[in-house]
Amino acid sequence: MCGIVGYVGNRNSQNILIEGLKKLEYRGYDSAGVAVYTTEGLQVKKSKGRLAVLETKLGDEPLNGTIGIGHTRWATHGKPSDINSHPHTDNSLKFSVVHNGIIENYISLKEELTAQGHVFVSETDTEVISHLIASLYQGDIVKAVQQAVTRMRGAFALGVLTEYEPDKLVAVRLQSPLIIGVGEGENFIGSDIPAILEYTRNVYILNDGEMAVLTREGVELMTLEGNFISRELFHVDWDIVTAEKAGFDHFMLKEIYEQPKAYRDTMGSRIDATGKKVVLNEIGMTPEQIKAIRNVHIVACGTAYHAGLVGKSVIESLARIPVETDVASEYRYRSPIITPQTLVIVVSQSGETADTLAALREAKRNGARVLAITNVVGSSVAREADDVIVTWAGPEIAVASTKAYTSQLIAFYLFGLYLAQTLGTKDEAYIADVVSALQELPAKVEHILAQSETIKGVAEQVSTHNNLFFIGRGLDYHVVMEGSLKLKEISYIHSEAYAAGELKHGTLALIEEGIPVIALATQGDLFEKTVSNIKEVKARGAHVFGIHEEGEAELAKVVDQVFAIPATLPLLTPALSVVPLQLLSYYASLARGNDVDKPRNLAKSVTVE
Ligand code: M6R
Repeated sequence: MCGIVGYVGNRNSQNILIEGLKKLEYRGYDSAGVAVYTTEGLQVKKSKGRLAVLETKLGDEPLNGTIGIGHTRWATHGKPSDINSHPHTDNSLKFSVVHNGIIENYISLKEELTAQGHVFVSETDTEVISHLIASLYQGDIVKAVQQAVTRMRGAFALGVLTEYEPDKLVAVRLQSPLIIGVGEGENFIGSDIPAILEYTRNVYILNDGEMAVLTREGVELMTLEGNFISRELFHVDWDIVTAEKAGFDHFMLKEIYEQPKAYRDTMGSRIDATGKKVVLNEIGMTPEQIKAIRNVHIVACGTAYHAGLVGKSVIESLARIPVETDVASEYRYRSPIITPQTLVIVVSQSGETADTLAALREAKRNGARVLAITNVVGSSVAREADDVIVTWAGPEIAVASTKAYTSQLIAFYLFGLYLAQTLGTKDEAYIADVVSALQELPAKVEHILAQSETIKGVAEQVSTHNNLFFIGRGLDYHVVMEGSLKLKEISYIHSEAYAAGELKHGTLALIEEGIPVIALATQGDLFEKTVSNIKEVKARGAHVFGIHEEGEAELAKVVDQVFAIPATLPLLTPALSVVPLQLLSYYASLARGNDVDKPRNLAKSVTVE
């Protein structure tokens, strides 16, 4: 995820910016840059690759000055490249901007500014901001930024410098985190506390809709409308490692809690302004090509494969196209029937998984069009696929995948709706209802997260067992497969996920007194049948923990403990019901004293077959 650092003071800003950016490296990035006000005006140096590449450039030609902004970019709009790196400037090179987040209406702003004579050089949404501010500037940078922000839609944190007012650094926050560090005769901005911790422990945490104007003498906080705000300084007593995890004990927990944001960012500009339909500008397929699709193959590994299982139901139910889902390591060895009318969807958080990449190549060799759903813009999968839907979950650092999985689900919902719109398999009212329910998901996840203590209690019981079962039917079955994988990989407890109706064909023999069974029962049309299966395991002594939808009263009567998730459309429940299962495995792993973020024998990215 992108990182921002800014400095105004009396020291060499270049060094402070680079050191600050190094502290943000853990967030992941693919390019970096700085802008410094020097005796020759505002100067920018930026480059694709690691910070060391930028450092070499700056070593050859240092930027000497005491005010500057810096950025590490994790590509979203446009590939990783020198030109797409931040900071971005306007054509006069008098304004410079660093930005985290997404400007949803950047295309219309770009068209408007282009018509006014602005020339754009990058593929980014950010470049629009520097041009917009330049176009609105009339001698007051604070006012120009305020006016610019009223024109921008999306989520963003900004650092802005202009050569015309070289003692001021302007910072803005709208849904993307930004903090202000307060020092003696010097002040800082950072997208994250570690960036400034070496220099000060006194910070202001900006809230959404707030901005700050930093000079050497002090910091003014105000709303985006210009009303001044007074706020107590927050003293940070975290060490650097805790700060990297934003105060969470582990990256996995932080990433579980980042899911509402990941959902919002992944939906972002892909839902049109009316909130009733999906816009997928990144899909290059024409309506005729979409209509020619005869079947879909979804191919992936591990957690991404589990997202693909849900994706199958989503596409089949919304677009009525037959879908097969395959584990990537099996796909190309089973001689799959791939034709030019097959759409192959590869799903990969990292975009570098060897088996998934090999499946993609096999599909292309056979003439199929390939759509990638990935979290990493410049990854191999993204580069080799014909179309790419990026999941804007931000970098996932814990080995156990959480926010990447749920963002992949969101990508499938968006793509399924897009197919339905194009093929006319669902009417406008139905699509509008699903889009509206999708937009309610982030708040519903927040509601589940607020009850994490309940799940923690269950996880502590589970952690004392060596075997357990997960059961469910329909979409619930696919979600429990993911729950079981998560528990295995980080708690090392053996578990099996079973289609609830399949137990009695053999596995029921393993149910004995006291064994935990986690039962998911969120699918209304399958509810009664799932309850029957729960009774089968209860009758053999299992201790059943049930997950159901709020408002449903029957499950509590047949299980030992229940947890309710907010109600939503049946097709969307996986995006909610997986969250308690993620928390369950996290807390079980914690209770067993395991290394949650780095489980034994596993790597984050599997680049070998
Ligand atoms: O980067 P990818 O999504 O292609 O990775 C696929 C799997 O290796 C990955 O999902 C793995 O199963 C996770 N560690 C599970 O949490």
